[in-house]
Amino acid sequence: MNVLCIGAGYVGGPTMAMIAKQCPDVKVTVVDINADRIEAWKSDQLPIYEPGLLDVVKESRGRNLFFSTDVDTGIAEADMIFVSVNTPTKTFGQGAGRAADLQYWEKTARQILANSTSDKIVVEKSTLPVRTAAAMQRILDSGSGDVHFEVLSNPEFLAEGTAIADLESPDRVLIGGHDTARGQKAVQALVDLYATWVPRDRVLTTNVWSSELSKLAANAFLAQRVSSINSLSALCEATEADVAEVARAIGMDSRIGPRFLNASVGFGGSCFKKDILNLVYLCETYGLTDVADYWQQVVSMNAYQQNRFVANMISQMFNTVAGKVIAIYGFAFKADTGDTRESPAICISRQLVEERAEVVISDPQALENAEHDLSDIMDRIRLEKDPYEAARGAHAVAVLTEWDLYAELDFERVFEVMMKPAFIFDGRNCLDHKKLFDIGFNVFAVGKAALSHL
Ligand SMILES: NC(=O)c1ccc[n+]([C@@H]2O[C@H](COP(=O)([O-])OP(=O)(O)OC[C@H]3O[C@@H](n4cnc5c(N)ncnc54)[C@H](O)[C@@H]3O)[C@@H](O)[C@H]2O)c1
Repeated sequence: MNVLCIGAGYVGGPTMAMIAKQCPDVKVTVVDINADRIEAWKSDQLPIYEPGLLDVVKESRGRNLFFSTDVDTGIAEADMIFVSVNTPTKTFGQGAGRAADLQYWEKTARQILANSTSDKIVVEKSTLPVRTAAAMQRILDSGSGDVHFEVLSNPEFLAEGTAIADLESPDRVLIGGHDTARGQKAVQALVDLYATWVPRDRVLTTNVWSSELSKLAANAFLAQRVSSINSLSALCEATEADVAEVARAIGMDSRIGPRFLNASVGFGGSCFKKDILNLVYLCETYGLTDVADYWQQVVSMNAYQQNRFVANMISQMFNTVAGKVIAIYGFAFKADTGDTRESPAICISRQLVEERAEVVISDPQALENAEHDLSDIMDRIRLEKDPYEAARGAHAVAVLTEWDLYAELDFERVFEVMMKPAFIFDGRNCLDHKKLFDIGFNVFAVGKAALSHL
């Protein structure tokens, strides 16, 4: 079987590398219009940072895993086409700021139609509004009718930073197909592909619409947990309850479970906000305004948490950060990735610059993206990979990504090179606060009582 993936991004690259590794008899080609990205996939400097990914790629690259910019030939030769192009939030026209921008998606559909001379299974890998498969099918069926296209939904649940483990041993693989003979045959072909390495009882088959909606729902539920605990972190700070203790206590309830209960500066990443806004827009489109309002609040709470973090920094630092140097530890939206899309660090850095602070950003993987994200205010920002150097002369350190390396730093050394009084704002609750306080820092974490010498 020839498998093609259109879109060589954070999803297309790793998922196809895993299929190629697990199914050596299947030829897997990944295509993209971005030639630089494809060149990087062919090298040892992959275009994305993901632990363990290079080994998986190297195992199959040149054997049954290929990268190319020739989308048309790829389509012509494929039996099964995964579409994994980006589906960002629309920035213009109707639904701007909320609806999904489906222009890349639709272009791909038309390109598949134009280059197909044999039947194809087309698999939606991108996250899409529910019922997008119907639009896809209509475009694909607008040709001469000689070729049959069967559209499946197979949303991706990998998390950046743990993508390889998630792909190797997924909680579940979800496949949505139509309840027709051809639909079920296509579903079976995709089930068989995954069943090579995923236990059969973890491969779930549903109708297409349930599958499309389940991806949006899963992200909405995960983000909702983050916003729920973050909302309580504000109450903890006001009442001397400790959010970590509250999270532990409620997380031990087996009906609730312990994961996604870490209070922080908020969630980031390319998906949560985009997918919830997409859900909100869908609900509004169907006239379900109460449902839309309910989910909108998850996004609003996330913005509140970031604003609250900056407001607290300013207030603790004697109501002004103008002219002060603030070292940001971590710019990626979470640890073990270089991805900064929707990272809380973007909004926090911008607010600090607006307050006329001098911002020094440190991160082991994300400095290139940071430079791009903040290109319009780079005159007020310095990038410094070494966290000790970043802290030199700083009035405060703000930890915005939970990289392991920050917990392991020699904070006596950090304290020595900082201005006094020295402040630490731990936006990920990942440091030893008591130890920092004993060194001499004034420590402000999320959802915990301040440890201040002032
Ligand atoms: N990043 C994640 O963690 C994650 C997880 C699950 C699902 N998703 C979903 O997967 C989809 C892809 O996300 P991503 O993070 O991989 O995006 P990405 O931006 O990293 O990659 C998308 C790629 O598609 C390419 N592309 C766009 N139009 C094309 C076309 N017409 N022909 C060929 N290539 C084209 C782009 O050049 C880009 O390289 C999105 O719908 C996203 O919501 C992402």
